Amino acid sequence: MKNVSAIVISEHGEPATVAKLCDIELPDPAEGEVRVRVLLAPINPADINVLEGKYPIRPELPGVPGVEGVGVVEESAHGFEKGTRVLLPHRFGTWRAAGNAKAAELVAVPAHVPDEQAAMLRINPATALCMLREFVKLGPGDWVFQNAGNSAVGRCVVQMCRHYGWKSLSVVRREELLGELGDIGADAVLLDSTELPRLGAKLALNAVGGDSATRLAAALANGGTIVTYGAMARQPLRIPNGQLIFNDIAWRGFWVSRWYQNAIPEARAAMFAELFRLVGSGVVATPVEAIYPLAEIARALEHAAKSGRAGKVLLRCAE
Ligand SMILES: NC(=O)c1ccc[n+]([C@@H]2O[C@H](COP(=O)([O-])OP(=O)(O)OC[C@H]3O[C@@H](n4cnc5c(N)ncnc54)[C@H](OP(=O)(O)O)[C@@H]3O)[C@@H](O)[C@H]2O)c1
Repeated sequence: MKNVSAIVISEHGEPATVAKLCDIELPDPAEGEVRVRVLLAPINPADINVLEGKYPIRPELPGVPGVEGVGVVEESAHGFEKGTRVLLPHRFGTWRAAGNAKAAELVAVPAHVPDEQAAMLRINPATALCMLREFVKLGPGDWVFQNAGNSAVGRCVVQMCRHYGWKSLSVVRREELLGELGDIGADAVLLDSTELPRLGAKLALNAVGGDSATRLAAALANGGTIVTYGAMARQPLRIPNGQLIFNDIAWRGFWVSRWYQNAIPEARAAMFAELFRLVGSGVVATPVEAIYPLAEIARALEHAAKSGRAGKVLLRCAE
């Protein structure tokens, strides 16, 4: 048993107010567990929703938030050598200096993957890859449309499309992003306010909701699929009857937590191998805007909730 620093929430509410730095007791690892020191963990929109009490999966209270991160094994156990970097499992509660994880749920990180990218790999790059693979069979040169093109998921979509030979059209809500996304491989970038060109796209990815989603779906080819995976505008979807009747547009949803729950071990292993290859070779990279120590959690949360960021906000968990 030892004491470690952790962010603890005892109630839901305004994120910067309810998240407190505490000392918590860490028991010795149980049978099948490994002690892990946490290096870095991101603050994702879903974490903010967890703190607000608006996310379907959240820790029991009091509890430690944080759904992903990278750590390092502290003592050799269950096939993991001391010093091995690992991706942390979904329910670990990553905003802590150290914790115990089931060995079976840890994923060893190859040496060529930087800490920052490893910390952010399990949620957003996985979401982008699954959505591009699992709804529509894309062929060479096929278009993929998306909103929130500059989000972490959106950037992964752009970079993966370029890598696999698909074309991407992104909409964004800030003019200064038009050139920036072109630099990472976007084929077209437009402001999210106008009618979109009809280019025969079979797949659209929606992280915003409201009118933005309606515009994406309206530009799809007949029989196309729009996948909703986020609701940043907090506006309900508006689905015109004609899109279903005359255009046969399929409105689907994606949740990476469900994907992980349902995936067989071989499918997870194949996905991690592919993501490590993409991220390790620099094909996919997620920018980081700032890294805060756990002690500055309130500032970190306020920063993460701001519009117009140029990248993710991460927490440095173990000092
Ligand atoms: N379903 C799943 O399994 C799954 C998995 C991963 C992520 N997600 C969801 O995907 C979304 C993006 O996540 P992320 O981590 O990639 O985001 P992120 O990197 O934190 O970026 C947030 C994005 O949302 C935009 N945005 C913020 N407020 C908005 C508003 N009111 N209206 C329109 N756009 C707004 C931002 O635009 P500006 O830069 O202009 O502020 C930015 O493009 C989130 O909703 C997240 O919960 C879902």
